[in-house]
Amino acid sequence: MKLTIYFSLARELAMKQEEGRTVMYTAMGAEWRPFGFPRRRRPLSSVVLQEAVAERIVDDVKEFIGNPKWYTDRGIPYRRGYLLYGPPGCGKSSFITALAGELGYSICLMSLSDRSLSDDRLNHLLSVAPQQSIILLEDVDAAFVSRDLLPTENPLAYQGMGRLTFSGLLNSLDGVASSEARIVFMTTNFIDRLDPALIRPGRVDLKQYIGNCTHGQLTQMFWRFYPEEPASEADRFAEQALAVHSEISAAQVQGHFLLHKMDPAGSIDNVAQLK
Ligand SMILES: Nc1ncnc2c1ncn2[C@@H]1O[C@H](COP(=O)(O)OP(=O)(O)OP(=O)(O)O)[C@@H](O)[C@H]1O
Ligand SMILES: [Mg+2]
Repeated sequence: MKLTIYFSLARELAMKQEEGRTVMYTAMGAEWRPFGFPRRRRPLSSVVLQEAVAERIVDDVKEFIGNPKWYTDRGIPYRRGYLLYGPPGCGKSSFITALAGELGYSICLMSLSDRSLSDDRLNHLLSVAPQQSIILLEDVDAAFVSRDLLPTENPLAYQGMGRLTFSGLLNSLDGVASSEARIVFMTTNFIDRLDPALIRPGRVDLKQYIGNCTHGQLTQMFWRFYPEEPASEADRFAEQALAVHSEISAAQVQGHFLLHKMDPAGSIDNVAQLK
């Protein structure tokens, strides 16, 4: 009991000290503990998504947080689920981190493929998650595939160990409800591998595809990285990039710009080397 009080005090203190920063929590046993150094808030504008995509999600989340009464009046559990899906390196995780910063929320990062995760433990963790936090379940497609494959390799490691079951996950998600707004984000690269039960309304209320860079995104990224350059150069970069590559992730573009930090012309000339 004393230890619990100690942890909650420590947590409160940490939160106070870290205003302007985003605290990440990870599950340790039955508790959430802050891990790593709190990160400086990443501005939402630094994650360049297709037009209107960020607004769609931000507006939805803010609307949700701002209207607890609407839910309680109707007896609807006060929670909302989001699924971001699409190819790697396009900004799903970065966007969620930036969103948490924008809201002044922390992030509770939960790995569903964690072998020590049982139905009960997940249920408990979700019910004790710190207030004003986003629960983030990354790569939800991987959770059950890998779990079903692993035991045949090392069955002994699993003896006596509670495992997370799919229905346990669904029940935990459904049980997540409190007077506090409860926000769950899930991410995946493969939406078609997800069981429809996991992403039905009530569990996932908003689905958003986060895809490879469009012309507009490429221009904007160029312009953000080389603010001194004229708009025509940003346009030229986007055009040439799309002429040689059909699919370009924002992560690739970022890597490419870093290779040409001081050399915007070089980043256009060498756009074929973007990888
Ligand atoms: N839309 C974007 N705008 C700006 N930077 C981006 C964007 N997308 C990705 N990046 C950069 O690329 C890196 C990887 O991005 P991130 O981890 O958010 O991708 P992801 O979509 O979560 O990928 P994965 O599916 O592999 O988890 C980060 O360093 C991030 O800054
Ligand atoms: Mg990610």
